[in-house]
Amino acid sequence: MDINLNKAAQLIKDGKVVAFPTETVYGLGANAFDPDAVARIFELKERPSFDPLIVHISHLDQLNELTEIKDSRVHMLAERFWPGPLTMVLPKHQNVPDIVTSGLPTVGIRMPANKTALDLISLSGCPVAAPSANKFGRISPTTAAHVKKQLSEADFILDVGKATIGIESTIIRLTNYGFKILRNGFITKEEIEEILPFDNSMQSEDLVAPGMLKSHYSPDKKFLILDNIDHTTDKSKAGLISFTGAYEKYFSKVIKVSERNDLKDYAVNMFDAMHQFEDDQSVEVIFAEPVEEKGIGIAIMDRLRKAEYNWQQ
Ligand code: TXA
Ligand code: MG
Repeated sequence: MDINLNKAAQLIKDGKVVAFPTETVYGLGANAFDPDAVARIFELKERPSFDPLIVHISHLDQLNELTEIKDSRVHMLAERFWPGPLTMVLPKHQNVPDIVTSGLPTVGIRMPANKTALDLISLSGCPVAAPSANKFGRISPTTAAHVKKQLSEADFILDVGKATIGIESTIIRLTNYGFKILRNGFITKEEIEEILPFDNSMQSEDLVAPGMLKSHYSPDKKFLILDNIDHTTDKSKAGLISFTGAYEKYFSKVIKVSERNDLKDYAVNMFDAMHQFEDDQSVEVIFAEPVEEKGIGIAIMDRLRKAEYNWQQ
């Protein structure tokens, strides 16, 4: 057994905060049943208390301690998508501390598809509450180095290299009719529709996750989605996150996110490209090429728009 994994699990047991890999992005985790440890996540992340955390499990039995729901649809979805990047928002068990759910009567739960994450949760002996391991509103971390850049104060950072998916989980809520999407992510609406119908009825309550603000995932320098090439602006200090390759000739610095025109590669490499340009002193403005809003393109454009939001004139 990896010595670091044992150390990380012991720290979680001791009420400490540990950054760990998942297949989507790195998380900043603590024992979900320890309100003081969870409070420290909010503090380190500088996260507002109204934004609830996802609880990570390694075994289906843990659902019983987190939720009282007996709904066969949960098991159908779990069988198809867990371990994996689907978060289900379910009625919470009274034992789940309010700080985890920001006082909501529901709790977001997922079983990550990353061996280290699953081993860590099992060895810790408790469900692990964890947001993405970035400062609130900043770029999500897909490597341990990204975590270190923003959250060096974490008690420990488990490093197993780059996340394989790179974009956050899809968050859904079950309704009487089917499911609603609270946050688009790696798993598409169409994939979930193979199991349950999509509920497109308009209801005013919680159509989006409370943490889904207009601005998020944002680099600390100007970030814009490339809509058309403005030939008057100087591109000598601009970096391009390129997908098709069509606009590369206009930019001095380019990071190509896919060599085979595959949107999954955009998802995997998008946050890393933002981090690289954020760290590159010679780049003053970051542009990202938009993609068609289909399948995982929906989640990619969601992240790009939120990253751009505060930088638009
Ligand atoms: O892929 C992921 O989901 C990653 C990895 C680490 O698992 N986690 C992640 O967590 O993205 P975070 O905290 O960055 O985003 C979680 C989102 C927030 O927007 C929050 O508002 C929403 O989940 N959320 C959590 N619990 C909820 C609940 N009970 N009801 C509605 N939304 C909830
Ligand atoms: Mg996040």
